[in-house]
Amino acid sequence: MYNLLKGKRGIIFGALDERSIAWKVALKAHQEGARFTLTNAPIALRMGQINSLAETCNAEVIAADATSTEDLESLFTKSMEILGGKLDFVLHSIGMSPNVRKNRPYGDLNYDWFQKTLDISGLSFHKVLQTADKLDAMNEWGSILALSYIAAQRTFPDYSDMAQAKALLESIARSYGYFFARKNKVRVNTISQSPTMTTAGSGVGGFDVFFDYADKMSPLGNATAEECADYVVVMFSDLTKKVTMQNLMHDGGFSTSGITGELIKDLTK
Ligand SMILES: NC(=O)c1ccc[n+]([C@@H]2O[C@H](COP(=O)([O-])OP(=O)(O)OC[C@H]3O[C@@H](n4cnc5c(N)ncnc54)[C@H](O)[C@@H]3O)[C@@H](O)[C@H]2O)c1
Repeated sequence: MYNLLKGKRGIIFGALDERSIAWKVALKAHQEGARFTLTNAPIALRMGQINSLAETCNAEVIAADATSTEDLESLFTKSMEILGGKLDFVLHSIGMSPNVRKNRPYGDLNYDWFQKTLDISGLSFHKVLQTADKLDAMNEWGSILALSYIAAQRTFPDYSDMAQAKALLESIARSYGYFFARKNKVRVNTISQSPTMTTAGSGVGGFDVFFDYADKMSPLGNATAEECADYVVVMFSDLTKKVTMQNLMHDGGFSTSGITGELIKDLTK
């Protein structure tokens, strides 16, 4: 424990169950002295698991569908009331594709679902940023993060339309990062995380195989959800004030490896 977030206030989106990356972030942020509200879509809250996290972290839970600007306005307003001031950090940890969930082949996508994918997993980040901006909800030197995946840059066939959503997400971080920096020195970044065993992750076809492949292709091995939470905490802290408009790789070296000894051994049979 380093007290890295002592006195800081924030909002954490996306803790569904204890495997969720956002769940681990909430636990670490709490340990590091932050106070925050927890939020998720109303349907996710009905599962009720988030209440035990809320109790541990002494946090209130506020329902918000991240695609609804009305819900987001009410979330930001209530959060500032509950926490007693403007915010220092926001984590967007949200992803969902109906096409992936229903196994639609890439050559036969349902376009209504494609738009849902983009709205939930990409555009919602702009809605979060724009709401925070309009309500003047962020303190100077605040930090806003979303979680991404390398399928934004490289093709992973089963990732389907989520690849486009992640490309959109990363682009929004760059564009809004400019405006938020000029406005009140708020930084906006995405963290591109290794495959991680969570509800969203394991919903992608062939996940076990590509989890193992990524692990062998990463000199340090896949980054875990806990390790991701550590990185998020550092990015929310005052130790990273000039890092903005970046897609930050948190992947054990995967993205810059051509091949590894482990894979060579596996393929030499
Ligand atoms: N698991 C992986 O392999 C992996 C790898 C890289 C990046 N990520 C990203 O990390 C983030 C968190 O995912 P996770 O792996 O912790 O899985 P998760 O399933 O635990 O979290 C996804 C969350 O999105 C929420 N959500 C869905 N629709 C929503 C809506 N309309 N409004 C508000 N919330 C909504 C879900 O309720 C859930 O809490 C996602 O952006 C995901 O794409 C995951």
